[in-house]
Amino acid sequence: MPIIEFRNLFKTYANQEGEEMNALENINLKVKDGEFVCILGPSGCGKSTLLEIAAGLLPPTKGEFLLDGTPRTGTSRDIGVVFQDSSLFPWRNIRKNLEFGLEIAGVDKGIRAQKVQEAIEMVGLSGFENKYPHQLSGGMRQRAGLARTLVNNPSCILMDEPFSAVDHLTRLTLQEEIVRIWQREKKTIIFITHDVSEAVYLATRIVVLTPRPGRIQKLFDVPFPQPRNRNDISFIEIIEKIYMCLNNPEGKDGKIEYTI
Ligand SMILES: Nc1ncnc2c1ncn2[C@@H]1O[C@H](COP(=O)(O)OP(=O)(O)O)[C@@H](O)[C@H]1O
Ligand SMILES: [Mg+2]
Repeated sequence: MPIIEFRNLFKTYANQEGEEMNALENINLKVKDGEFVCILGPSGCGKSTLLEIAAGLLPPTKGEFLLDGTPRTGTSRDIGVVFQDSSLFPWRNIRKNLEFGLEIAGVDKGIRAQKVQEAIEMVGLSGFENKYPHQLSGGMRQRAGLARTLVNNPSCILMDEPFSAVDHLTRLTLQEEIVRIWQREKKTIIFITHDVSEAVYLATRIVVLTPRPGRIQKLFDVPFPQPRNRNDISFIEIIEKIYMCLNNPEGKDGKIEYTI
């Protein structure tokens, strides 16, 4: 059974003239336990919309989102979200930011401290527990945002372009670390990006969306073991295939192509 499933899912928004416009059309996608799925598509194609529906922050207009085979709306403790900006509370230090969700859930103080420490170590922020968000670099804030999600131990983590605001070298490091965390913690990850090379570095499977309205244009398996070598010829070949696909969004007849 897939852990996550989008079934015949549509999302419609009203534009400024009040006309209904599809942002997502007929999304059908099953994500299995332990997969690392990257959702790739041009700006405005509905990636964040899809993620917000999965996070339970937005209802679909039509169709269903299923978690462990059960249709659901609303947030779930089993699904954590990491946004582009880490959205940490500026008035709380890193430890207190991480503790927030556990406090709300009524977790005992001692256990809270232990879980927070584990999450801080997982993302390499030891020694920065007492710093405030403004005292950290952008990359460290994203680490803290990830730790705040990990502390709640969700089985699935949704990430919306989490590394797009950090500098290039930091971004490469964060990509390596998220792979390491995914492998060690056995999470299911759905990761949104418009960076083809990032998707090929991270994903076990890549979903390419068409320009608005977003439909699934093509699915790519990425069968290479981790850690990956960005200079491998097979790595570069798959990047080229995906660029060809993005440059020719002709698959809008509802036919989903699957490529390995
Ligand atoms: N609340 C909203 N009201 C109206 N239109 C929206 C709203 N949110 C997003 N849209 C539109 O839906 C489309 C998809 O948006 P989004 O999911 O943010 O795309 P992406 O994340 O791929 O850039 C865009 O054209 C955007 O302008
Ligand atoms: Mg977006």
